[in-house]
Amino acid sequence: MANVFVELLVTLLKLVYYWIEGIVLAFVPASFLAKDISHDTVLITGAGSGIGRLMAIKFAEKGCRVVVWDVNNKGNEETASEIRKRGGKVTAYSVDLTDRHQIYKTASEVKKDVGQIDILVNNAGVVTGKKFLHCPDHLIIRTMDVNIMAHFWTAKCFLPGMIERNHGHLVNIASSAGFVGVSGLADYCASKYSAVGFDESIRFELNSQGITGVHTTVICPFFINTGMFDGVKTRFPFLLPILDPEYAVNKIMDAILCNQTVLLLPKNLVFFIALKGMLPTKCCQILADFFQISNSMDEFKGRGEKKEN
Ligand SMILES: NC(=O)c1ccc[n+]([C@@H]2O[C@H](COP(=O)([O-])OP(=O)(O)OC[C@H]3O[C@@H](n4cnc5c(N)ncnc54)[C@H](O)[C@@H]3O)[C@@H](O)[C@H]2O)c1
Repeated sequence: MANVFVELLVTLLKLVYYWIEGIVLAFVPASFLAKDISHDTVLITGAGSGIGRLMAIKFAEKGCRVVVWDVNNKGNEETASEIRKRGGKVTAYSVDLTDRHQIYKTASEVKKDVGQIDILVNNAGVVTGKKFLHCPDHLIIRTMDVNIMAHFWTAKCFLPGMIERNHGHLVNIASSAGFVGVSGLADYCASKYSAVGFDESIRFELNSQGITGVHTTVICPFFINTGMFDGVKTRFPFLLPILDPEYAVNKIMDAILCNQTVLLLPKNLVFFIALKGMLPTKCCQILADFFQISNSMDEFKGRGEKKEN
């Protein structure tokens, strides 16, 4: 009994310590806490457009060797040539992440051509934007394959090398849709909730094994103006703005460099998530209606995938 009491006391002290540490760190500029990644090799999936491309360019500017993967060969090569133009080191591979065997095969090629990966950014994503019962099976399967299953396979390929060297970072680009369900995004939200759970579980597994040199970061942004979610609405842009890609990527880079575990973008999403945890579900529904989260997808166009059936 005395042991439990001591354990409880130590736990409470640790809680207070890390709570204060969290508050202090929130006010310290990222540049003071940033780690040196200039000798690291970074692999980014879905680097052929959007925030994947921007991240690839930023990592290369930090001196990293960058490996870019995408199914869109043209976009991927454009990213690679942009990096080369700026004097960066990059290797591009055409990969369809819906195919587990292609992932394993390309990962072997990467290890042969470039060596071990220090930072893996699971960024590629797709959205269908259809109401669940209007969403054909193959599009639901594609959403799950790209947005979550591929995370499993890439992590299986590159995490063991990181653990062996006790050096590495697994970054999972999820979404605010990984915390809040949205009408018209059932498959997308399911995949992003999975990505949040995957990231958290891997972090706990690494911690419980005493692996201190391998970090995880899960990125949960609200809508970003990349084209993926063209047409979506936000009722109160001053509270929940549609984010500028450059701004979002700067915040993502800061979070990775500071080994931040979870990044919510914008920060005030934390209040919505906390409210969701505390309020009865009917209250959440009323709030979701007021903020028009329930119909934010009504005029969704995306990248023209609506034509696909
Ligand atoms: N744009 C947003 O509003 C937003 C908000 C929150 C989270 N996210 C997430 O951020 C990530 C990047 O999104 P983005 O806005 O840059 O979108 P994007 O469409 O510009 O980029 C996604 C990339 O993934 C690639 N991709 C798709 N399917 C693939 C496959 N089968 N194999 C390999 N590559 C594939 C695409 O070719 C594309 O280059 C996604 O995971 C997305 O879910 C986006």
